[in-house]
Amino acid sequence: MNGPKLIIALTKGRILQETLPLLTMAGIEPLEDITNSRKLLFDTREPAVRLLIMRGSDVPTYVRFGSADMGIAGKDLILEGGSEGFYEPLDLNIARCKMMTAVPKLYRPSSGRLRVATKFTNIAKKFFAERGQQIELIKLSGALELAPSLGLADAIVDIVDTGKTIKANGLVPQYTIADISSRVIVNKAAMKIKTALIQKVLVKLREVVEIHSADKAEH
Ligand code: PRP
Repeated sequence: MNGPKLIIALTKGRILQETLPLLTMAGIEPLEDITNSRKLLFDTREPAVRLLIMRGSDVPTYVRFGSADMGIAGKDLILEGGSEGFYEPLDLNIARCKMMTAVPKLYRPSSGRLRVATKFTNIAKKFFAERGQQIELIKLSGALELAPSLGLADAIVDIVDTGKTIKANGLVPQYTIADISSRVIVNKAAMKIKTALIQKVLVKLREVVEIHSADKAEH
């Protein structure tokens, strides 16, 4: 088909498994098996739409700069990186979890600056600044839950889903900073240039999300 194409950036891995059924219900079914392919760009049953597969943290970047017109990104990454350059018109209501602070079970607040370990430094900075609490940020890229027991930090800021990871590491949840789920984001310039195509996809996805969310509420 001639005319403008729409590129939608998706997160590979676990979230893709939840995203693909929604896209398929919206008529955007990939023409080949995405999950077992080394390719990164895929045609779909909707000739105007192509899917681009990448690491979750890169989705907002691709959409911000317009290399992808739309994307599906976790709210955690949107909050951390900011939403400059794109709109966030739809909550897909999948991959739901919470951004939380967690502290050791036997936590005693000390009088000094709280040492907070996280990979979400901007989220943590903003949250504690709004509470008027001075902190020392310790940026880690993984194994955060170990930081308190090894004396590296007093608290962590991380994603909590079932709560098993923090519990297994002797931590308890403390404050909820934000509810997280996957969101549809749209490049601002693309929204102007490819309005009809983008609106068509958004309308379909909105319908699918309503049905899917109602189904989930029933079970
Ligand atoms: C997230 C998060 C926790 C875990 C929480 O990691 O960093 O480690 O999930 O889940 P739970 O509350 O159900 O135990 P994820 O598996 O997404 O991988 P990551 O470490 O790459 O972020």
